[in-house]
Amino acid sequence: MTALSARKDFKLSDSEFRMFAELVRAHCGLHFAEDSRFLLENRLGRRLHELDLPSFAAYHFRLRNQGPGDNELSMLIDELTTNETYFFRESGQLRALIHEIFPELRLDRSASGASGSGARKGSPINIWCAGCSSGEEPYSIAIMAREIGMRPGVDLRVYASDISTRALRKARQGIYREASFRETDVRLRDKYFVEKDQLWQISSEIKKDVDFIHLNLMDRSKIALLGSMDVILCRNVIIYFDSETKGQVIKTFYEKLRPGGHLLLGHSESLINLSTEFELRHLRNDLVYRRPLAGFTPRDPWHLAAEAAIRSTDDKGER
Ligand SMILES: C[S@@+](CC[C@H](N)C(=O)[O-])C[C@H]1O[C@@H](n2cnc3c(N)ncnc32)[C@H](O)[C@@H]1O
Repeated sequence: MTALSARKDFKLSDSEFRMFAELVRAHCGLHFAEDSRFLLENRLGRRLHELDLPSFAAYHFRLRNQGPGDNELSMLIDELTTNETYFFRESGQLRALIHEIFPELRLDRSASGASGSGARKGSPINIWCAGCSSGEEPYSIAIMAREIGMRPGVDLRVYASDISTRALRKARQGIYREASFRETDVRLRDKYFVEKDQLWQISSEIKKDVDFIHLNLMDRSKIALLGSMDVILCRNVIIYFDSETKGQVIKTFYEKLRPGGHLLLGHSESLINLSTEFELRHLRNDLVYRRPLAGFTPRDPWHLAAEAAIRSTDDKGER
């Protein structure tokens, strides 16, 4: 008998499904609706099998009673998160960041905070990639910044966080397969990576440009330890959350951004029904959200919603 055929198939009962879905939602905001039940069953089943546990109830008990040093919840989160990403994803938005937002921020810093952002003259621009997965997104930003002559560590600081320890391990290693380069200009790949056995290692220079942090977006006390941000990218992350968690996370981002700071969401995400506190900006390369400067009243939510709907129709046309 092979190891595979020896594996027992576990079935999640209705009450077990609800118990696990709630445990995961409360821990990290990931939302498993009834139609993703099979997915949850399958991924939990893998852990049961690995741990050689007799039932889902026994696994739930183990998760609820984790002792010090037991990292089973973290292992489960590695199984449940979707870590799909690649270099230069949604590149129009990255161009908006590098060629439109960065120049404004640099001007603001040369004028000693005259705009009301509160940034000190000459201080680095702070960027946070929240939900960075295996690092392709923050490394893309570091590469693009270097390409326009900015010096990470001096002109800007790139922080990148994720809840998945497995994804972060990969990010810190900086070794990628061909699939991560599906949208990458070959010139940039050859300049910043070294190939070995069909894997690509990022240059140690770019690796040093990004600070990776293990962080759950639900953990407000740990987030409070991060400084104020000029830009937060949280792309293709909140799409997996329930609406209450989305609202909480967006509120946290609002608080972490300096006045005038930008929030960049994924193309299929918007603030409709989540927040009316942000201003929607039409940049040449993309639409982005901004925490208004003091004294600015965001336009009414219906106007914002209509604009975001136009944006999503445009995006569908693009793909
Ligand atoms: C699809 S990836 C997006 C990666 C990248 N931002 C991009 O757009 O290519 C979503 C990431 O969000 C992370 N994530 C999900 N829930 C999280 C939470 N509560 N706190 C921090 N990261 C989370 C997942 O681990 C995953 O790596």
